[in-house]
Amino acid sequence: MRLAVTGKGGSGKTTVSATLARVFAHRGHEVNALDNDPNPNLAAALGVSIEDAARLRRVPREDLLEERVDESGAAILRLTRPFDEVVDQYGVRGPDDIAVLTLTGLLGAGQGCICGQHVGVRELLRELGQGQPGRTHILDMEASLEHLSRGTVRNVDALLVVVEPYYRSLVAAGRIVPLAGELGIDHVWLVANKVRTGDDVAEIDDFAARHGSEVIGRVPFDDTVVEADRRGMSLIDHAPTGPAVKAIEAIADRITSEIGEAAMVGG
Ligand SMILES: Nc1ncnc2c1ncn2[C@@H]1O[C@H](COP(=O)(O)OP(=O)(O)OP(=O)(O)O)[C@@H](O)[C@H]1O
Ligand SMILES: [Mg+2]
Repeated sequence: MRLAVTGKGGSGKTTVSATLARVFAHRGHEVNALDNDPNPNLAAALGVSIEDAARLRRVPREDLLEERVDESGAAILRLTRPFDEVVDQYGVRGPDDIAVLTLTGLLGAGQGCICGQHVGVRELLRELGQGQPGRTHILDMEASLEHLSRGTVRNVDALLVVVEPYYRSLVAAGRIVPLAGELGIDHVWLVANKVRTGDDVAEIDDFAARHGSEVIGRVPFDDTVVEADRRGMSLIDHAPTGPAVKAIEAIADRITSEIGEAAMVGG
């Protein structure tokens, strides 16, 4: 299964991605946690040590994918070798044996755009859906809408849109949801995060109703998240039975029931 997590800056994408990755790994999935934020911090949120995170190197597209010609004569990007070999070379193993990999990164100050990397991620996701069964791939996206406008997430099975109960966060989601629809993504679900009151719940539910989208779960505002972040720890290690982790476990349950356990661990 290929699952990407998007939303406005600071909405909780990395917290949700990392915790979902750990929850699925606890449940026996082989998880690849793929950082697609050029300002990456998924490794830290997963509980990877600072020393190990420092060994992460962005995978160059030319070392990941090569151009081939398909049966119809069209050029197509294919994996250069089994994805595990790429992970071993460029990634690190985190807690619960989660493979962590950085897929996008800045080229340096004044060094231009990274649109080629977006194409690489899009084609990697297509490849992972075809020849790499038995894995759960979780992608933590950057806050910009570029992964939607460039179609980077076109080939995911599900997109989680993390929203907070305030106007500008919902406006951002109001841009994301239709773009995701245009890309033809099978499942686009909202995650209501940092929810404190019944009014917060109602505001996000109302937004979902107006946009024809579904709230797959609600994560309360939880001081254990703040504290874990302050200590540089993964949330699930810091507060494994806290309200936020419980809520994200419930989201994992929902994803599993919607997509199907067999599809998630077997293809
Ligand atoms: N449920 C929650 N309760 C309290 N604080 C939260 C919750 N979820 C996330 N936070 C806090 O919100 C901040 C942003 O979280 P996070 O880094 O996961 O967001 P993000 O969407 O990945 O941000 P960015 O756009 O910078 O990548 C962090 O300080 C985090 O600890
Ligand atoms: Mg983030």
